[in-house]
Amino acid sequence: MKNSELSPTLTQYSPSSPDHRKPASLGPSGIDSSRSTSFLSKRRNRCVLLLSIVAIVVAAQTITTLLNCAPPGPEHTNGLLSLFTKPGPRLCADLPVSPDHWLLTNANAQAFVDIPHLAPLHPGDTVCVRVILPARKPNVTMIYAPFPNAPWDSVLLDMVGSTGVSVPVDLSPVARIESTIKDSVHIYEADVVLRDVGKYRPQGFIEFRDAQWNPEGRLLPATYKPEPLLISDVLEVEVVDSAESPFSLARYMDLPLCAESSPEGRWVSIGDLPFDASTMPSDNHNKVWLPYNCRLQYITYKEFAQCLVQKYPSVHLFGDSNIRRAMKKITTLGKWCSTQDERNTTGCVCEDYREPFDRFDVGKREVLVNIDPINGGMEASNNATRKSVIRMRKWEGLIEGSNEPWWKAFEPSGRPDPQIAVISLTNWDAAFSTRAFFAQELSRLLNLVDTTYSNATEIIVRTGQYYCCRSDDSSWKRRYSRLRNKLFDKYIIEAFKERFGGARKLSIWDVASLMEHQPFAARNESVVCNSNHVRSEIVDIENQLLFNYMCN
Ligand SMILES: *[C@@H]1O[C@H](CO)[C@@H](O)[C@H](O)[C@H]1NC(C)=O
Ligand SMILES: *[C@@H]1O[C@H](CO)[C@@H](O)[C@H](O)[C@H]1NC(C)=O
Ligand SMILES: *[C@@H]1O[C@H](CO)[C@@H](O)[C@H](O)[C@H]1NC(C)=O
Ligand SMILES: *[C@@H]1O[C@H](CO)[C@@H](O)[C@H](O)[C@H]1NC(C)=O
Ligand SMILES: *[C@@H]1O[C@H](CO)[C@@H](O)[C@H](O)[C@H]1NC(C)=O
Repeated sequence: MKNSELSPTLTQYSPSSPDHRKPASLGPSGIDSSRSTSFLSKRRNRCVLLLSIVAIVVAAQTITTLLNCAPPGPEHTNGLLSLFTKPGPRLCADLPVSPDHWLLTNANAQAFVDIPHLAPLHPGDTVCVRVILPARKPNVTMIYAPFPNAPWDSVLLDMVGSTGVSVPVDLSPVARIESTIKDSVHIYEADVVLRDVGKYRPQGFIEFRDAQWNPEGRLLPATYKPEPLLISDVLEVEVVDSAESPFSLARYMDLPLCAESSPEGRWVSIGDLPFDASTMPSDNHNKVWLPYNCRLQYITYKEFAQCLVQKYPSVHLFGDSNIRRAMKKITTLGKWCSTQDERNTTGCVCEDYREPFDRFDVGKREVLVNIDPINGGMEASNNATRKSVIRMRKWEGLIEGSNEPWWKAFEPSGRPDPQIAVISLTNWDAAFSTRAFFAQELSRLLNLVDTTYSNATEIIVRTGQYYCCRSDDSSWKRRYSRLRNKLFDKYIIEAFKERFGGARKLSIWDVASLMEHQPFAARNESVVCNSNHVRSEIVDIENQLLFNYMCN
């Protein structure tokens, strides 16, 4: 990665990099209301007139190029939009896409980020962020295709605050016919909520174009060769201090305890906290996860064991090796990977399958763990006579070709229904199933859950692990990608909600969101871990989300 073209982190993740210079002739239309002068330039008028033609002739890229409709310079949009500029937040829906942006057909034009309204915000306001990818020459050798309504391009973008807070930008295609056409201009947008005080700048790059994030069926994962995005220096949004901000760290300890399973939050360095965080589990960068609307209390593994015995005589966990890592913590009362010396070992950082472990048999499909309130999960056996029993069922998602079909996990057992069944999917499914096969198996799973458990059993859906920053070029060729995994998660959550939303209690254990909010450099540490397990420090924090939800 010596070539800076191929190394977006070098150019876009380094604040002092010269590549942050404002592009000369095209790119972000930073708006500075005090500076703007002209209204519609002549060139702009011509472009606007052309729009009607473009609407009819979608493949009009060549026409517009011939008529020399230049890419927009910052001065164009300044003039138009400054008429409406006022302080405070503006949603993307209130900020029309600059018509010029739809005419970017120069094959060499670079993709760029635009923030059409840069006025200062109060904590909790939204800012509209857009990414514009100019049209390119058709390339028929590209045979990847996105899921229906999903983007052609995978753009990894964050709003990064001066305090180190990183807020993911969840981009969606702007609803226009162009979004469905592979080689057209593609414009994505998101309304991003910024709650922490500070100056924010976009940081990111294009992971994949031409739907290469979605290697379905016989297609193999595409090589990961990210492309840079132009990000102008003017694209800075300030969230100004506000005495009454409910998100202020100074108020964190006054928040009610978290009662939801996936509270939105951010990572903050322990050194920046105005309160004592010594009991909170931190990641390997000394950051703690703090929800915005509620407070996580540290629940020890022993307290969790007591909570299980009191409130949950039976819990079922269905999942892969990530659930195994969670259970290693639970059954050792937190001792697994707890010392400083252990934490950097392979088992704690990434792959633990082969390490010796004496609390349960990691090779078994089905493990019953008896939890007692004195020693916690100190004993693993098939003797389910104690007060609380966790039944852990290992599966490889709902993929085809496991040595035991996943649905065997729902064969009648004669055991009473659990209070909670945790169902963890995505990791194997995104890697090995087609979307169509997965949809069919998921619907079978929903039926089995429905007929196996009474409506009194609560379902907790655990998302897949966050995945980014690479393709699997190991011999496994897992078809993971950041966007593909995210879309599998979304699909699963919607399917469960649709099926069970009214009938039974349903919650989401969003472990992906934890990693998605980490600073990019921390996320990129995962590239050396093929199995995409999170470090044991993060396993602890994932567990805290569940424990707070179940026991507060
Ligand atoms: C992530 O880290 C790897 C290896 O440490 C590095 O080669 C790569 O350039 C980084 N990725 C990005 C997108 O910066
Ligand atoms: C089309 O895409 C293929 C696969 O990435 C690439 O090798 C080829 O150079 C592209 N052709 C053009 C004309 O860009
Ligand atoms: C673990 O590794 C990190 C980075 O490689 C290093 O900074 C840290 O000191 C190590 N910790 C221990 C306890 O070895
Ligand atoms: C199960 O546990 C009970 C009480 O702890 C004990 O009496 C019984 O023998 C055990 N059964 C098996 C099969 O281990
Ligand atoms: C569960 O709830 C649904 C929706 O309220 C209802 O149709 C169904 O009969 C219930 N199932 C049982 C076993 O009670």
